[in-house]
Amino acid sequence: MNGKLRTVLLTSLAAVTGIALLAGAGGQAAAQELNIYSSRHYQTDEALYSTFTEQTGIRINRIEDKEDPLIARLKAEGMNSPADVLITVDVGRLWRADQEGLFQPINSKVLEERIPDNLRHPDGHWFGFSTRARVIFYNKDMVDPAEISTYEDLADSKWNDMICIRSSSNIYNLSLLASLVAHHGEEKAQEWAEGVVANFARDPQGGDTDQIRAVGTGECGLAVANTYYFVRLLQSDDPADKEVVENVGVIFPNQDGRGTHVNISGAGVLKNAPHKEAAVKFLEYLASDEAQRYFAHGNNEYPVVEGVTESDALSTLGDFKADKINVSLYGENQPLAQKIFDRAGWK
Ligand SMILES: [Fe+2]
Repeated sequence: MNGKLRTVLLTSLAAVTGIALLAGAGGQAAAQELNIYSSRHYQTDEALYSTFTEQTGIRINRIEDKEDPLIARLKAEGMNSPADVLITVDVGRLWRADQEGLFQPINSKVLEERIPDNLRHPDGHWFGFSTRARVIFYNKDMVDPAEISTYEDLADSKWNDMICIRSSSNIYNLSLLASLVAHHGEEKAQEWAEGVVANFARDPQGGDTDQIRAVGTGECGLAVANTYYFVRLLQSDDPADKEVVENVGVIFPNQDGRGTHVNISGAGVLKNAPHKEAAVKFLEYLASDEAQRYFAHGNNEYPVVEGVTESDALSTLGDFKADKINVSLYGENQPLAQKIFDRAGWK
């Protein structure tokens, strides 16, 4: 074989292979695959994903990690990222990912109809698929629940040395303070943060469960934490957890006013998603009644679609009125909330 012929043969072989690869990428193989980056991992998630594959024939590949490393990974992968969908918790994190330009806008009648508009990005960059409430827990021997009914009350000096709450870098607290900025403005939010710091029973430490446990043992009279952490303790067989649950009561704040602060678990389609169509299908599936139950029940969160009921364990906390403000404001106010926390000396 002379040199020229070999070159031609190699070139046509490359062309044929190239065409085959392109057909794979743009055709059948691509439509049957979906790559999800998720910071969620619960038992019911297996059923969540397998049901989608059964219904659509689309195979799901998952990468699971903590929220911030996932966002860092997406940034590092950039245009070459294989990821189609990011699932994470707290709108503050979805907002951070969006600030990095990771999401693309999605127009979907299904999502717009089924998800309340205060729980999704105005232009479809991300959507909330379940909610969690950030509530007040109290020690039944130390606090009369008739004396406290709002987040604002936590800043009252009568609760001096009583409050346990985690650090100001925690995204849940940033979102909570961001909501106070949205409702009252910067000055009042600053006063509130200072008042709460003055009432600390101890320096911020640990996660939400640690705050609830500290109320259970009487180290603090009051704590602020997300609902699902308490439900986990309710479901625990550990005698120490049972004792905590017995000593602790739950207050859904601001029921006579704007309602209790809620945040979301949510997802968005990534800007460079190789399988955009499958990604939108998946988000629409997440808004179906069946998937809503899997998604919300897996972590004892509240479904966002009307008419879908919460888990039995969560329903024992009772009904409440949720703050209907658009959660995207929690993202927008996040940098200011961090400044206020720092100025207030909230560690
Ligand atoms: Fe959490």
